[in-house]
Amino acid sequence: MFITFEGIEGCGKSTQVRLLRDYLGSLGLEVLVTKEPGGSRLGKKLRSMLLSMENKDITREAELFLYLADRAQHVQQVIRPALKDGRTVISDRYADSTVVYQGYGRGMDPDILNRMNLLAAAGVWPEITFLLDLPPEAGLERAMKRNKEKNIAASEGRFEAEGLDFHRRVRQGYLEWAARNRNRFVVLDASGDELSIFEALREKVNQALRLEQF
Ligand code: TYD
Repeated sequence: MFITFEGIEGCGKSTQVRLLRDYLGSLGLEVLVTKEPGGSRLGKKLRSMLLSMENKDITREAELFLYLADRAQHVQQVIRPALKDGRTVISDRYADSTVVYQGYGRGMDPDILNRMNLLAAAGVWPEITFLLDLPPEAGLERAMKRNKEKNIAASEGRFEAEGLDFHRRVRQGYLEWAARNRNRFVVLDASGDELSIFEALREKVNQALRLEQF
């Protein structure tokens, strides 16, 4: 089974990914946790190019192609082989991030991006996508706090440095895209406490696991 997590910066994805990994592990499943950008060897190089403030002058098209390159490599080298081995794969961000950030955020056509994703993802599509929904003000506050703890300057990430308007478009974009893809999206209110969010999430995963047995 392939599960992806989506949401704005600071929505708490990494905590939920960790909780889910531990839970699935406790059921005896072999789990691979991975992320985008940067889930493969080549991808790590692309990630540092994509997130560095040094590349502030990157065009939105160049940015798009780097994310797609990262995904193509990630799918073929990491995700597909793991799924073939019978592992459950959890990815912190995947194809929907491109539709939402480059589409709703940067103003490119979401439907064209979706088609480009079909090529990059080579038919590997998640069964469930969790969207952790949070107002951007709250997310950015959390992201800044996290950066402070890790001693990273707020201006160091290209996306953290974007204005509130950008993050509002991203949040709205996620909600719209999730509504258009109800078959696999599960939208969770990420403003509550971590464990109640995880309760709701676990319920959905359990349902999917039961279905998988038939
Ligand atoms: P990361 O530090 O992993 O952020 P987070 O902790 O919020 O996941 O940075 C990933 C950034 O890249 C994030 O701001 C979203 C952006 N992104 C895109 O714009 N398009 C994409 O296709 C992907 C995968 C990520």
